[in-house]
Amino acid sequence: LDQVFVLKNGVKLPKIGLGTWQVKDGDEAYNSVRYALKHGYRHIDTAEGYRNEESVGRAVRDSGIPREEIFVTSKLESHIKTYEGAKQAFENTLKALEFEYLDLFLIHAPWPWSEIGKDCREGNVQAWKAMEELYRAGKIRAIGVSNFDPNDIENILKHCEIIPHVNQIGYFIGLDQKKTLEYCETKGIVVEAYSPLGIGYLLSNPIIDEVAQKYAVSPAQICIRYCIQKNTAPLPKSTHEARIIQNTQVDFEIKPEDMAILDEIKGDPRRWS
Ligand code: A2P
Repeated sequence: LDQVFVLKNGVKLPKIGLGTWQVKDGDEAYNSVRYALKHGYRHIDTAEGYRNEESVGRAVRDSGIPREEIFVTSKLESHIKTYEGAKQAFENTLKALEFEYLDLFLIHAPWPWSEIGKDCREGNVQAWKAMEELYRAGKIRAIGVSNFDPNDIENILKHCEIIPHVNQIGYFIGLDQKKTLEYCETKGIVVEAYSPLGIGYLLSNPIIDEVAQKYAVSPAQICIRYCIQKNTAPLPKSTHEARIIQNTQVDFEIKPEDMAILDEIKGDPRRWS
């Protein structure tokens, strides 16, 4: 839990963060964040699009932990692709969280979720310029993107000044993100892994279960440890205190031969459902 990635600008990003996608606003989000902070998490991931920023912000403030010791990420909604829109959305996020500043702000996706694949190159550049300005003004400690592939990032690099500090992508056993991982590594962009448990589907995979038994850990712990050994920062989501604790107990090493077994698993469980 106390391991960090150091971003290109020197800012420290705790390696394991609590994911809050699909965590309901109100008690559910509030309690998940309170449990996480109580058990040592110092990295919470939310988004305007998750509609739970208010509860997340309140839980962070109520925790009694100094604000500067907690790394909080939020994201610009995927349909906002203008300079003015991005600036306004950032202010709304800050207000919802009731924070003075944000640690990390990401463009949620290269295209609106309602129009996946749409060419928004110009819009992403406009949004990025707003984020650069907010970063320079000290309102955000680091800026990045999410769900971007190498081409999407190249577009930003061509027209902007600051290289994204982070790219947050769906990453878990079976989902091949090799190209994006390699590209980000060459650019010094830290990769965060959302849905590290494959939204929970991987937990019933018999191969993962077998590896888990070998190390006397749970399948969830294998999934999270796998992401760490692939040099990404996993953001497991849970609303249950015991699981929130368990998901941090990953201080073991999966041997190369077992990593190879896990590498053989293929498929995106998000499409099985
Ligand atoms: P819950 O929130 O009810 O605990 P991902 O992070 O890949 O999106 O996966 C999240 C899913 O996995 C959620 O359904 C969550 O359920 C479940 N989950 C999270 N941690 C664990 C765990 N340690 N054991 C079993 N299920 C877990």
